[in-house]
Amino acid sequence: MKVRAAVLRHPALPFTVEDVNLAEPGPDEVLVRIAGVGFCHTDLLPRTPRAGIALPLVPGHEGSGVVEAVGQHVTDVAPGDRVVMSFDSCGNCRACLGGRPANCATFFPRNLTGRRPDGSGTARGQAGEEISARWFAQSSFATHAVVPARSLVPVPPSAPPLELLGTLGCGFQTGAGAVLNSLRVRAGSSIVVSGTGAVGLAAVMAAYAAGATVVVAVDIHPLRRKLAEEYGATHTLDGHSRDLTEEIREITDGADYALDTTGVPSVITSLIRALHSHGTCGLIGVQDGDLTVDPLLLAAGRTVKGIIEGDAVPRLFVPQLIGLWQQGRFPFDRLIRTYPLDAINQAERDVASGEVVKAVLLPV
Ligand SMILES: NC(=O)c1ccc[n+]([C@@H]2O[C@H](COP(=O)([O-])OP(=O)(O)OC[C@H]3O[C@@H](n4cnc5c(N)ncnc54)[C@H](O)[C@@H]3O)[C@@H](O)[C@H]2O)c1
Ligand SMILES: [Zn+2]
Ligand SMILES: [Zn+2]
Repeated sequence: MKVRAAVLRHPALPFTVEDVNLAEPGPDEVLVRIAGVGFCHTDLLPRTPRAGIALPLVPGHEGSGVVEAVGQHVTDVAPGDRVVMSFDSCGNCRACLGGRPANCATFFPRNLTGRRPDGSGTARGQAGEEISARWFAQSSFATHAVVPARSLVPVPPSAPPLELLGTLGCGFQTGAGAVLNSLRVRAGSSIVVSGTGAVGLAAVMAAYAAGATVVVAVDIHPLRRKLAEEYGATHTLDGHSRDLTEEIREITDGADYALDTTGVPSVITSLIRALHSHGTCGLIGVQDGDLTVDPLLLAAGRTVKGIIEGDAVPRLFVPQLIGLWQQGRFPFDRLIRTYPLDAINQAERDVASGEVVKAVLLPV
């Protein structure tokens, strides 16, 4: 079928919104009409040539919408259902069976190649050329997507506006899940969050909701620090500060938890050094360069932990986030600015400049 989609054809060129021929859903797949799709920092990864992601590609992996058709084996969703699309996993490997689908043995081929796990493609351009349309199993910068049923989260009509809900499928889920699932932040504890973009602000909101009494937010942009204060940070620090470790220690007397969303090695090192000896530092930001850690810091009891997708099981966790939103404890919708799909390049500029925390594209 013919759909409209934002295609990235060259790492350095703007997106082009084009007609694309999308495959019919396979036996375990679903056709979804997209209501809205968030712009996550990871959608810019295909712009990094060394990431080796084949172009042309339709990015987008925070989609939500309405099911239009289902394959013959699909029994858990039906046409008309409202769904959030999240990352894909196999369901059968050791990690999936252990309740950790974000660590699925096939996470990379399923989510970051733009193809089905068997290597087949799902879309072609007007000249018949192949276009990767399986980014995080959805490629939802489009009017429609063909997605595996397993990656969908059905949502009730009482949830927030459907077009904003896709953002819970990656960025907000990652930050909140890191706090609630991975670090399991306790009431009365202290946490430092570095980088207060979409992921870091979700972590700040979740830490506040979990009852952390000291929430230190670190960012280089004053506007982001101000936002963090509005969403639950008790203290803010400048990421360019000469002695970040000492400043965090002064506030926390050694932090119980730390969470990095910047991927900047010097910031991560400062966070690890600022932990209490029982503390844990979670790493979310895609790392830029090698990380050097004094082994004595770890020998004393500290833990450093990589976190994918907030260790979430999306069908369990997205409804939990909706519940927190309903109670006013996770106001993620206030961080969103919407754009028509055709304005995707403006949305990318606004996200890159820091003017907008979370852009949501509305295909019309
Ligand atoms: N591991 C996962 O599962 C997962 C999932 C989603 C996103 N991510 C990654 O998480 C990271 C954050 O995503 P985002 O959407 O919040 O990005 P973002 O660009 O909105 O936020 C990053 C923030 O870090 C700040 N920052 C940059 N350098 C800094 C420094 N030296 N000190 C302090 N702050 C600094 C920026 O000002 C910005 O506010 C990205 O690398 C993204 O690819 C990972
Ligand atoms: Zn698996
Ligand atoms: Zn993402």
